[in-house]
Amino acid sequence: MSFRFPDSFLWGGAIAANQVEGSHVADGKGLSTSDVQPKGAFGELVKRVPGDFNIKDIAIDFYHRYPEDIALFNEMGFSCLRLSIAWSRIFPNGNDAQPNEAGLAYYDKVFDELKQYGITPLVTLSHYEMPLHLAEHYQGWASRDVIGFFEKYARVVFERFGSRVKHWLTFNEINVTLDEPFTGSGLPRDCSEQTRYQAIHHQLVASAKAVKACHEIIPDAQIGNMMLGAVLYPLTSHPADVLKAQRQNHDWLFFGDVQARGYYPSYMKRKLAQLGVTIDITAEDEQALKETVDFISFSYYMTGCASADPKEQQKAKGNMLEMIANPYLDKSEWGWQIDPIGLRYLLNLLWDRYQKPIFVVENGLGAKDQMNAQGEIEDDYRIDYLNSHLYEVGEAIQDGVEVMGYTSWGPIDLVSASTAQMSKRYGFIYVDRDDEGHGSLERKRKKSFFWYQKVIASKGEALTKPIYTRS
Ligand code: BG6
Repeated sequence: MSFRFPDSFLWGGAIAANQVEGSHVADGKGLSTSDVQPKGAFGELVKRVPGDFNIKDIAIDFYHRYPEDIALFNEMGFSCLRLSIAWSRIFPNGNDAQPNEAGLAYYDKVFDELKQYGITPLVTLSHYEMPLHLAEHYQGWASRDVIGFFEKYARVVFERFGSRVKHWLTFNEINVTLDEPFTGSGLPRDCSEQTRYQAIHHQLVASAKAVKACHEIIPDAQIGNMMLGAVLYPLTSHPADVLKAQRQNHDWLFFGDVQARGYYPSYMKRKLAQLGVTIDITAEDEQALKETVDFISFSYYMTGCASADPKEQQKAKGNMLEMIANPYLDKSEWGWQIDPIGLRYLLNLLWDRYQKPIFVVENGLGAKDQMNAQGEIEDDYRIDYLNSHLYEVGEAIQDGVEVMGYTSWGPIDLVSASTAQMSKRYGFIYVDRDDEGHGSLERKRKKSFFWYQKVIASKGEALTKPIYTRS
């Protein structure tokens, strides 16, 4: 690519506490909602009993191996690492009077390690987990009390880490409660629409309060939101399909609209009325929501289609996020449709809509890796995927979109969020562990490791133009 990404562009990778750390009850940590989902975000919930198996209890043991892993990220040239704090390490039950010092001390060490290499941390306050106690005793985010608990947690970590952490995100994929209420909000899966939207409202208020606290406590920090960028195209040019796609995109853009503009959009008021949902919104809530985010962020893996035709809608049932397949796109081994051009489209859409800087905080290909006879992993499929997506980020920057950075998902193999598999690998770094928990946990550089290193060192110039069937 003849284009060079700006010098200020942050290059790196993204991980989440519950998918890498392990040590799920070490040093006073409480159980989190993730700890009772041994089959992943969409799998059954279990009651923990001594000796049971949850791959996340050890995960990839980042809890102990972070110095080695951060050194490898540095070797690739990372200027940024997105990671999350496990809320239940800091407040084991969520509503404790005092924070757990050992939990704070652990993240002190991680941030010091990053600082040593000059790697900028981008920290998510809540990535697909909350203290289990809050889900069991408060019905998760359905309770207004949780807003206060979250704000207290946010203030504690801003105070403690504010001198070293200047980039924050509130909730990972805040729109996920629409598809998975327990993972997103600690709600029972069969909750009513009323409960679901009330919980979402509480989360949006909590997010705004965290933004305010961040602005007060760390005036030179930037704090953003984070959405699952689930773009839908109309399946055909039939106006009803076009309208359907717009409506379905509103379902998730709603979150960004509230977080970036500071109030509920009119289309959502109509939708809630149609659903028969009446949200309790206080005058104080309305005031709180006015504190808007500094930047927008999202995860991007796939796109889908929307159709007003009931037959097409039926066919999509059971698909990930119930999207209708796009006949022009290939898919990954897990059925996720691969669409690099869609990333440029989405970046432009969000820029047009919000005129705020944008950070691509997740993107990547989950694939099964095989070692060749020499014990090497030649993951050209991953290189192709990342090359084409990053190329489109470069195109979007040239379109004028202000892109702050790109953190690919799972720069080191980690436990899959949706399926709790180790075999669904995203990394540049291989981790020797299988789905049953066997393996030495040893780390190994894949071919993509050296490729990403070159891309970063060349500020994107090493990216090659993807070949599409149409351009
Ligand atoms: C995002 C999540 O939805 O997708 C991550 O924020 C997750 O936590 C990633 O790991 C990829 O999904 P999966 O299910 O392949 O791990």
